[in-house]
Amino acid sequence: MNVSPELSLSSVQSIDELRDRVRTARAAGQTIGCVPTMGALHAGHLSLIDAAREQTDFVVVTVFVNPSQFGPNEDYTLYPRPLEDDLMRCRNAGVDLVFHPETATVYPEEHATFVEVPNLSAVLEGHFRPTHFRGVTTVVLKLLNMVQPDVAFFGRKDYQQQFLIRRMVRDLNLPIEIHTCPTIREEDGLALSSRNAYLNDEDRQLGLALSQSLRLACDQCKAGQTPVEVRQAMLDHLNALPGLKLDYATIVDAQTLEELDESKPDMVALVAARVGPTRLIDNMPIRLE
Ligand code: PAJ
Repeated sequence: MNVSPELSLSSVQSIDELRDRVRTARAAGQTIGCVPTMGALHAGHLSLIDAAREQTDFVVVTVFVNPSQFGPNEDYTLYPRPLEDDLMRCRNAGVDLVFHPETATVYPEEHATFVEVPNLSAVLEGHFRPTHFRGVTTVVLKLLNMVQPDVAFFGRKDYQQQFLIRRMVRDLNLPIEIHTCPTIREEDGLALSSRNAYLNDEDRQLGLALSQSLRLACDQCKAGQTPVEVRQAMLDHLNALPGLKLDYATIVDAQTLEELDESKPDMVALVAARVGPTRLIDNMPIRLE
């Protein structure tokens, strides 16, 4: 892919060039931050970049639409790829380097190794997208090995994703700190997502029900209702909406992802649903003092 010359200064496609740039920064005493993304950057991604800039000296953003995390009937080919805009956003946000490899660079023909966190990758999102997390953990491990950052930044918006990545990093003894950043929302509560670009006005309105149900769940738990009662209230609320096809709405232990019947101090409410052709996910922490 060609990019205009002044933008290409801060972006590379090959692993060798990436490593050269990172090596030079490290040799100059800089710490390295990495923000893995699939592009179509929005304010959620930018908040990760801001955190990376605050905590590390040399910030690498990776932009790669990872085929292995999309199921056969999912939106891989449709996924937005506005590379020029993304490079401009990165440049304006003070990113030091954008790594946007070709698919064949990440997955050459002979590529055969995958990494998986079983059990945890089969529940919630994994139940509805059985091969998704295998693709996510594999590509994140590969990107982290390519960049070799000190700290990598992920969004809480994808709660199960960052949970699995933390587990993988711990299990495989990667010398990398994982930092999780809060979810950035529109003023009306809709969590920012690259997939929001697919929503028409009507679907967007319906999509608001996800964050509304999470807020409700949070309030009810804090008012003393049990997760069993609150889960039922979420299901009733969301199933009553024609046009919204619910995959799951539940409350889990934030430390284990186990579905809860009784309240614990650190919980998270999660929801996933389809509005029209678009699948949306969201979650909210529920911390009881
Ligand atoms: P992508 O959906 O592009 O998201 C990149 C990062 O931005 C993820 O860590 C995600 O949790 C975070 N993010 C997305 N929306 C956010 C929001 N509203 N607020 C805060 N953070 C948000 O997630 C992926 O890409 C991929 O699975 C990836 C990890 C890059 C592996 O391919």
